[in-house]
Amino acid sequence: MKKFAIFKPIGTFKKGTIHIHKKWAKGLKGIEDFSHLIVLFWLHQAEPTKLLIHPQRVESLPKVGVFATRSPSRPNPIGLTVVKLLKRRGRTLWIEGFDAWDKTPILDIKPYTKGDAIKSYNFPEWLKFLYRNKKRLETINKKDDLKKTNVSFFRNKK
Ligand SMILES: C[S@@+](CC[C@H](N)C(=O)[O-])C[C@H]1O[C@@H](n2cnc3c(N)ncnc32)[C@H](O)[C@@H]1O
Repeated sequence: MKKFAIFKPIGTFKKGTIHIHKKWAKGLKGIEDFSHLIVLFWLHQAEPTKLLIHPQRVESLPKVGVFATRSPSRPNPIGLTVVKLLKRRGRTLWIEGFDAWDKTPILDIKPYTKGDAIKSYNFPEWLKFLYRNKKRLETINKKDDLKKTNVSFFRNKK
């Protein structure tokens, strides 16, 4: 087995758009017939891998393994996001719902299809806690003051 894989970025993200490199532009034919896309990208500014982490850096949450999270700090910092395709003009795609920074290299794009939609699934208590406190945590995050947060996972648990 090869020890390394070489990726060929197909484009770059900038201000709500993905610009596909000329070389790969032909590969976009027909993409505008899909409302949603799966975008795979390289989290190029990710910090070194941490195998055990507090989800979203909330220290009151128990540490979990990186593969049980969406943390960018992973052995292969590949991001995956389902986005809405608003329009395509030539080799530029206007998208909604993307969570990467400008200049993020795009590795691949696939259409979102029926087979991707799972109606019933389970997820852990700590993630339910993060969803419940989303607004509050976003405010704290902006202040970069997560360590001082008194948002308590255990206190909020039923
Ligand atoms: C938690 S990751 C999740 C990405 C994707 N939805 C996934 O699940 O793979 C998204 C966060 O990574 C950070 N981020 C965005 N672009 C990045 C980049 N190019 N390199 C490193 N971190 C990035 C931002 O803080 C963003 O909110």
